[in-house]
This record gives sequence, structure tokens and C-alpha cells, in this order.
Amino acid sequence: MDPALATFFTAHPSLRVVVLGHAANAAALELRPLGVPARFVSAAEAPELVTQYLSANQAKFGGPLALPGWVLVDLYLLPGCVTLLVDAATPDDPIVSAWCGVPTVTPGTVMGVSLLSRREGEGAAWAVKRLGLAVLRARVQRGLTQWDNRALRAHARLGALRIVGPAPAVHGAAERSFVYEIDLEVPPTLGAAQTFPLAAGRRLAARAQAGERLYVVAPGLDGAGQLVVARA
Ligand SMILES: CC(C)(COP(=O)(O)OP(=O)(O)OC[C@H]1O[C@@H](n2cnc3c(N)ncnc32)[C@H](O)[C@@H]1OP(=O)(O)O)[C@@H](O)C(=O)NCCC(=O)NCCS
Repeated sequence: MDPALATFFTAHPSLRVVVLGHAANAAALELRPLGVPARFVSAAEAPELVTQYLSANQAKFGGPLALPGWVLVDLYLLPGCVTLLVDAATPDDPIVSAWCGVPTVTPGTVMGVSLLSRREGEGAAWAVKRLGLAVLRARVQRGLTQWDNRALRAHARLGALRIVGPAPAVHGAAERSFVYEIDLEVPPTLGAAQTFPLAAGRRLAARAQAGERLYVVAPGLDGAGQLVVARA
């Protein structure tokens, strides 16, 4: 097993990996991601778990980012899958963390959405996303996040996180958000980094869109809440 994940599961022995999705897609998934056993659950046969996931998601993302049931079904579960860490010790309320990945039209590139953890600060978000990417055999992950989102700390640990550009205006939180791509085959640190205040985010996204290769470097957001960014 991957050593960092082995350390994580030793510290959290009651956690298990569940992959929730469409039964016809199961054969295409890696259900021993990074050496960790994962159980595939068909969404059609687990309405209670699907409802629990929707509630967990809606509790974490509200307002303009609230997940409609039809998006969960049509755009998460039928084309992709939701990887979950569940706690065997709390079967009535099992979900600890979750991440959804959906393959894009570019082979090897997976769109990532809705990273959430209900036990913050334990590494459960980092672990579920790392596993979920391996379930989908992703080489690159595309996503959208907010400059001030602590998820940046988890994202920036997974590989070289390049700022692609600003979020399209129609996105519910466009003014605070940016599009990124993580090359999962390139380690997360890339040379010397500079720190920037959060307010510089929009300018950084515009510079990236204009062609500069800018990377959010681990830890992504530092202890002072500043962005950690490097130029390639
Ligand atoms: C964003 C969110 C998922 C982050 O959760 P989180 O628990 O902080 O994320 P992590 O799993 O990375 O946990 C971080 C902590 O786990 C620990 N950790 C991280 N990697 C670890 C590892 N390899 N082994 C052990 N512990 C680890 C660290 O203590 C880390 O703390 P740090 O941030 O001070 O370094 C959570 O705040 C959330 O659900 N937010 C609402 C939804 C949201 O906005 N999602 C983001 C969408 S882009």
C-alpha cells in the first residue's frame, strides 16, 4: 500500500473506501487504488447512501453552489463516481469524506468536484481525493476552487497545481474562484515560491490566462492565509 495512505489508515482503522457509481462503469474502475481495497456500491441499489451523500454535500456547499439531485445523478454518478471514506463504527451515519471525479473528453484528464470532509483536520479530504483519482486512473485533474478555500492545502499536495485562469462568470462563486489543473505525475513542489495576499488571486488568474505558467505550491495557503505560488 502507498506509505502515506498506510499511515493514514493506521491512524483511522475503522475507515473504509467505498466507490459509489453506475454498475455498468464498475469494470472500468481501479478498485484497489494505490493498494487500498475499495468496495464498489451501485447507486441504483443504495438509495440511502446516495441520499446521505446528497445531504452531506448540501450541508457543505450551500447557496449558489448547492448540488441539485439531478446533477448528482446525471453528471456525477452516471458518468463518473463518488469515492467515499466511510466509518464502519458509525453505520447509521457512515460518510466521513467524499470526492467526485468525472472523466473529461481528454483521455487521462478527470474533472474533480465536491471535495468534502465532515472531520476536518484529519487528512480525510486529502486521502479520499488521492484514492478517488487512482480509482479513475487519472493522470491530470482539472477543477475549480476558491482562492480562500482550505481545500487548496489538500489539492496542492497531490501534484503540480497549475493555475489555468479565472472561473467563467456564470459560476456561482466566479469572483473568488479559479480553474486549475494538477499534473499528478509531477511532484507537488516546483522550485522557489512567493507568497501573495488572497486579493492577488484574480490578478494571478488573469496572468495565467495570458500565458504565464503559475503554480500553487504546497502548502497552497500558508499559516498566514497567504497564497504560495511559483512561476515555472
Ligand atoms: C475543504 C475541506 C474538504 C478540507 O478539509 P480538511 O480536513 O482541511 O482537508 P485535509 O484532508 O487536507 O486535512 C488537512 C489536515 O489533515 C492532515 N493531513 C493532510 N495530509 C495528511 C497525510 N498525508 N497524513 C496525515 N494527515 C494529513 C493535516 O493535519 C492537514 O492539516 P493542515 O491543512 O493544517 O496541513 C473541508 O474544509 C470542507 O469540507 N469544506 C467545505 C466544502 C468545500 O469547500 N470543499 C472544497 C471544494 S474545492
